[in-house]
Amino acid sequence: MKIIENPDEMRSMLKREREAGRRIAFVPTMGNLHAGHSELVRRAGDDAEVVVVSIFVNPFQFSADEDFAGYPRTLADDLAELGRLRAYATFVPDGRTIYPQGESAVTRVEVPRLSGYLCGASRPHFFRGVCTVVTILFNIIEPDVALFGQKDYQQLLVIRRMVRDLHMPMEVRGIPTVREPDGLAMSSRNRYLDAAGRARAAGLFRALCRARARLIAGERDFADVEADGLGEMKAAGFEADYFSIRRRSDLEAPADPDDDLVVLGAGWLGTARLIDNVLVREGQPL
Ligand code: PAF
Repeated sequence: MKIIENPDEMRSMLKREREAGRRIAFVPTMGNLHAGHSELVRRAGDDAEVVVVSIFVNPFQFSADEDFAGYPRTLADDLAELGRLRAYATFVPDGRTIYPQGESAVTRVEVPRLSGYLCGASRPHFFRGVCTVVTILFNIIEPDVALFGQKDYQQLLVIRRMVRDLHMPMEVRGIPTVREPDGLAMSSRNRYLDAAGRARAAGLFRALCRARARLIAGERDFADVEADGLGEMKAAGFEADYFSIRRRSDLEAPADPDDDLVVLGAGWLGTARLIDNVLVREGQPL
């Protein structure tokens, strides 16, 4: 596997692959890879001959009081895993390559409205940082397809909207969440959980599943389902941020009884902010 820091080198290498008629799939990450990332890389390999992964802890998507400095960095282990998975190349730019003038001076990419709900309400800087870095990475890699995990469902929709709005000639694919045996969604931030927090963490997924079961059974008092979900999160020890039933296509409040729904939750367990979601009707492509 090639490990590349320089955008021009990456670009010219991928140009040769493209000219040889090979399809390029891209998995952007912040490293500290877990089984969820490995699944994205494997699925990328089903989709394209050339799989490129990036590892870049993006300062622009963290606010000053968030965990940028302490975000787990495990580059050697990550590269070993990507080698085992037979990725074609890993792009590991440094901060100055991505933001030569610093992130506060960079051109910004923003998706209005959709970025303002849920995680965007409590982390107003977040999706601007994600969209900006993902645009920079897409412009360097120029993939045919990019893969994102369903766990970050709002991120998946925001990036898909950005790609559509800006006419980026590529596809965005969502891949179902990989879970621990007790249901906890795989996440790099699970590392912040102490033993007591880890024992409680799957409470979020259980609350989401109970809400989904009520919706499948025909419950349409969404406010009641949401209030119970928040109550379950609190009972499991979470400081809840939100527990919300939304329209699956655009995260607006459901308006029609036939709307396809997603239930999303977020909250803190100690220093770990965990998010998760379940689609009420499974089985359709993400
Ligand atoms: O999901 C992530 O790990 C990050 O938000 C991403 C998409 C790599 C952008 O930094």
